[in-house]
Amino acid sequence: MIEFQVDYADLLLVGTITQNANIQGDDDCMADSCAASRLSEDDPHRLVALTRVNSSDLDQLIIIERLCTADGWTADNFLEEFDRSFSIKLGLRQAENLLAYVFFWLIAPEAFLMKLNVHPRRQGCGLGKRLLGDAIEFSKRAKATQMHLEVRIGNTPAQKLYEKFGFVTTNIRENYYSQGRHAALMTLNLDSKIQSSDLCGSS
Ligand SMILES: CC(C)(COP(=O)(O)OP(=O)(O)OC[C@H]1O[C@@H](n2cnc3c(N)ncnc32)[C@H](O)[C@@H]1OP(=O)(O)O)[C@@H](O)C(=O)NCCC(=O)NCCS
Repeated sequence: MIEFQVDYADLLLVGTITQNANIQGDDDCMADSCAASRLSEDDPHRLVALTRVNSSDLDQLIIIERLCTADGWTADNFLEEFDRSFSIKLGLRQAENLLAYVFFWLIAPEAFLMKLNVHPRRQGCGLGKRLLGDAIEFSKRAKATQMHLEVRIGNTPAQKLYEKFGFVTTNIRENYYSQGRHAALMTLNLDSKIQSSDLCGSS
């Protein structure tokens, strides 16, 4: 297996895109987001920052995971992930609160999106779009040529999000998930003309 050389210093560059993220439409978001948007411009608690996710986030990860998906990762699954050198783990947080996380693998020359979850109280506010854009940007900087993922057919928010970034369905895996639910395999060419930064700049 060939792994990419990943320099987390790149995260700082990607993070400058995310800091001061203009979280979309107060009216569309839940109470915490609205409260955050009323904080003064220079209050650090207002900022949504892109950071690394590590094992000290385990408790928050498990809470969000359970809220987001019935058959999601266990604590052991997360701990295994923290041991994988080719696994990149990024999160969006406001002060100490984790709002969303993305885990993806960089195995040359490809990237694999393993996990993308937004806390249910913050869904629909642009965080998923922001974080997926950051993961794509990070993978491009690591010279990955394609990103692959699996998504449950019928998970409309996720499928729409991926299509928005230019992912296309390449195959269907029948009965892939519990209760006979099918998965769509989707791929994005990272040299595609669609610029993730363009999508992230819009609300
Ligand atoms: C799927 C998920 C990551 C999207 O994140 P989000 O922060 O809620 O989504 P955003 O607000 O960034 O929306 C981005 C795009 O996703 C799509 N989308 C989001 N919510 C949607 C919904 N309820 N219905 C249809 N499309 C939706 C839209 O294309 C949207 O773009 P638009 O706002 O320009 O219309 C999030 O809803 C989530 O964590 N869901 C539960 C876990 C999950 O399914 N993860 C993905 C597993 S593959």
